[in-house]
Amino acid sequence: MRPAATSIAPTPAPESSVRVAAAAQGDVAAARDLARILGLALTQPPYDAAGLVLEVTSGRLQLRDPRSPRTRPLSAELFPVRIRRQRLPLSKRGPLALAVGRRSRTVVDATAGWGADSGLLAAMGYRVVMVERSPLLAVLLSDAVRRVQREPGAAGGKLVIPELVQADAVGYLYRVTTRPDCVYMDPMFPPKRNSAALAKRPLRLLRELVGDDEDAGTLLAAARTAARSRVVVKRPDHAPPLAEDVDLSHAGKLVRYDVYLAPAR
Ligand SMILES: C[S@@+](CC[C@H](N)C(=O)[O-])C[C@H]1O[C@@H](n2cnc3c(N)ncnc32)[C@H](O)[C@@H]1O
Repeated sequence: MRPAATSIAPTPAPESSVRVAAAAQGDVAAARDLARILGLALTQPPYDAAGLVLEVTSGRLQLRDPRSPRTRPLSAELFPVRIRRQRLPLSKRGPLALAVGRRSRTVVDATAGWGADSGLLAAMGYRVVMVERSPLLAVLLSDAVRRVQREPGAAGGKLVIPELVQADAVGYLYRVTTRPDCVYMDPMFPPKRNSAALAKRPLRLLRELVGDDEDAGTLLAAARTAARSRVVVKRPDHAPPLAEDVDLSHAGKLVRYDVYLAPAR
């Protein structure tokens, strides 16, 4: 049961409250395997409104919110139609590319989430490694990678599919042997307290799954040791920088990209 509406922000439910389901009889074995791997309980339709459901279908993995039965389930999508419709590689004139740097070739996206930013960066021509610590998000990302890999010559061979690593990026970055030119990070940030605007649905679900990334400062420190050229931190426009010594900042719509340049070695 959902609690009655209240002005207190809901406490993020732990990822373990998600249940796994098969959308059809043919998907039952795959759903069972996934539930075992993730250590989650199984359920089946019709779903009660207790929490999120990771649904296995023949084509994709999707996250369904039975509390909003009319909304479409969400999947990770690296190269959505709005990217594929454009001429590839995407232009590097926008604030994200200016922050990452035109000369950068390799980018570690240390907070991959739904993979949207990784997909954008890959569509601009960067070679991207996405790192995600949430096992649930990682299986959704891995499903997105698998779907693109199955397409013969995705977008005429002009899309380089990001590589996926399921790990805490702090450990990954301290151990990485081939240092990336840029480390990109987009840690979860608490929404404006008095904002009437609701965060977009993918972000709301993500917050419900993983909470706020309160250890983002530790990640920034690891990123700064690993990046050859720079670290880029995406922040909501109202949020203070993660560390004071920002070298450059590029403003986009509602967000900005703070750049920390690596010292010359
Ligand atoms: C705001 S979301 C990122 C959204 C992403 N930029 C996108 O385009 O979908 C933050 C994500 O970073 C992940 N994350 C936070 N800290 C991390 C860390 N130290 N290592 C790996 N993943 C991390 C969280 O689990 C969450 O999925």
